[in-house]
Amino acid sequence: MKEVVGSPPAIVRNDVAAVQSLFQQNVVPSYGRFDIVLSHGVGSYLYDVTGKRYLDLGGGIAVSSLGHAHPAIVEALTEQARKVIHSSNFYYHESQGRLAQALVELIGPGKCFFGNSGVEVNEGLFKLARKFGHDKGRFEILTTINSFHGRTLAGIAATGQDKVKKGFEPMIPGFRQVPYNDLDAMAAAISPATVAIMVEGVQGEGGVTPATPQYLLGLRRLCDEKELLLFMDGVQCGHFRTGRFQSFQRILEGTANRFLPDGISMAKSLGGGFPIGAFWVRTPYADLLSAGTHGTTFGGSPLACSVALGILQVIQRENLGENARRVGDFLKNSLLALHEKYPTIVQNVRGLGLMIGLELTPNIPNLPGEASKTQAVRFANLLHSAGLLAIPAGAQILRFLPPLNLRRSEAEEGLRIVESVVDRLAA
Ligand SMILES: Cc1ncc(COP(=O)(O)O)c(C=O)c1O
Repeated sequence: MKEVVGSPPAIVRNDVAAVQSLFQQNVVPSYGRFDIVLSHGVGSYLYDVTGKRYLDLGGGIAVSSLGHAHPAIVEALTEQARKVIHSSNFYYHESQGRLAQALVELIGPGKCFFGNSGVEVNEGLFKLARKFGHDKGRFEILTTINSFHGRTLAGIAATGQDKVKKGFEPMIPGFRQVPYNDLDAMAAAISPATVAIMVEGVQGEGGVTPATPQYLLGLRRLCDEKELLLFMDGVQCGHFRTGRFQSFQRILEGTANRFLPDGISMAKSLGGGFPIGAFWVRTPYADLLSAGTHGTTFGGSPLACSVALGILQVIQRENLGENARRVGDFLKNSLLALHEKYPTIVQNVRGLGLMIGLELTPNIPNLPGEASKTQAVRFANLLHSAGLLAIPAGAQILRFLPPLNLRRSEAEEGLRIVESVVDRLAA
């Protein structure tokens, strides 16, 4: 194993400017990037090419579920690569079948389809809904304001944020948005063409806002009454991030309700950094996408599924859902204490498990950085300088989406860094 995993190579002789210039000349500038050139990672830490260490509480936007260079992921990758990496979906292979079985066991009776990213499996659910409604002329999918469902044409049409749509109009038809956590607004929006509703259990990009139990239960009732499919986008908030496999399981704890949506999309933490997406669809609808109606070359490859299975084994063996709940609650409560101590800097803290948003107050007077950048980006820059990575969401919010195996001592280290930055701004 040792020679396979050897130490990471120096990148362009560890020259920050040289790497950045490779990007400037050759990479489409569709991302606003921070001034950090990464080299490698270990556990909850990432290192840049200058040797600076960062505590990675961003987790690659909720992806690095076991942190960096986890031996189980390295082993699954290398073991499976020695056998077969890819075979196409013309053939059966064990790991796709076993992964589907594991996901079905974690959710409920149904079947799974595998893709490569979050937006791709959302598209799969959109197609499933269209197939379901086709013969009755129903095609419209209702989503929510501030939602995020991905960057393809259907993804941006489904997403409830104007900034992702701007410049790409006209939107493809069949998507409308209504306010989140507002059951009356959803009920009022249903038209004869409506076939499905899609919501995130916890809105991520929109600012880390959990759904209320009443909202989820009400959506289920509404969908049953009107014969609509209820989809949950679990791409960011799923895979034990909230302390349970899916966020609705955590949100509905204690309600004694056997809630199940009709479809769930998954990606991000499922592959721990290896690209994989999946959707689960509930039994009555599980055979709607019959042979030849949907597919993708790479989806559910032996390599992707072996990695996802390896990750799932570690999460279950080490009870990392419980860890996400415990360390997440500690982190959130400690950040709430910062809100109490520094109300002029920290306006609010919300989230579930290891999906936490820290909302800054508007117009923090001595926040350094260019005025053209959002407060969230400028605050993130301060955190980076102090050795911590966190992910901006919108103009005012920093997201913490760390590995599910984050230690309490690492959470404490992160809190010390956040407090040092907040304290400096409050002075
Ligand atoms: C809730 C949600 N859905 C879908 C997506 C799109 O996933 P991907 O970027 O893998 O296409 C994201 C990505 O951030 C997301 O947070």
